[in-house]
Amino acid sequence: SHERKIIPVADPAALAKAAAERVIARIEQNPGRVAVCLTGGSSPKALYQLLATREYRDTIPWDRIDWFIGDERLVPRKDPLHNMCMARQAFLDRCAPAANVHPIATDTADLNDPDVSAALYENELMAFYGAEQLDPARPLFDLVLMGVGPDGHTASLFPGYPAVAESARWVVGVPKANVEPFVPRVTLTLPTLASCREMLFEIAGESKRAILARLLAGEDLPANRARSQHETVWLVDQAALPEDFRG
Ligand code: 6PG
Repeated sequence: SHERKIIPVADPAALAKAAAERVIARIEQNPGRVAVCLTGGSSPKALYQLLATREYRDTIPWDRIDWFIGDERLVPRKDPLHNMCMARQAFLDRCAPAANVHPIATDTADLNDPDVSAALYENELMAFYGAEQLDPARPLFDLVLMGVGPDGHTASLFPGYPAVAESARWVVGVPKANVEPFVPRVTLTLPTLASCREMLFEIAGESKRAILARLLAGEDLPANRARSQHETVWLVDQAALPEDFRG
């Protein structure tokens, strides 16, 4: 359904653990090739590091999981600000076969033209999916991870930007970000991100409380428009929860 489920957790450690358990559950539900769309920012780092620990690492069938990224910053691929670079360092380089990691190209394309990188990634996603139209009965991703920015953005879908309204393209370039780092971005569009069995947000810390209050009040912001065609879950820690939602 298009309903969103909010699951409160105690703190960032509990949040990472809850997220890891959902990652495992999604993998177990698909005996074939599993596609996971990762996210950048600081929120998912603890989850990524947890997946690389013995407990998880030894149980994950790495050979049959493909890892994509929901948005990227147009910086060199080894720049610490590069989203996939962060994910690689946190877990992929130690765990996943190189061929199963699908970054958005930022070095091969003209760094000032995110549309070039976007078109390349769109082609890669279509080739992986085996079609140029998304079929609701056959989601592109098993799992899409997301975060929420202070302005209500998610992926690199910033409030009021044309990328938010894009309904045909799978991936688009964003010439300038609304928040730091102010570099061009490449982002999957809402219909592409929605094509998943589960969309999982990680939201933690006091700095998220103000935007979370606005989102829970129903404000029309990209993070509120981002919904899986199937299941959408927000994992929220106590520090991020506005007063009236706390247990
Ligand atoms: C990015 C992310 C972005 C992120 C939010 C939250 O490229 O910045 O993909 O959408 O999820 O900005 O960022 P934090 O996790 O750092 O708060």
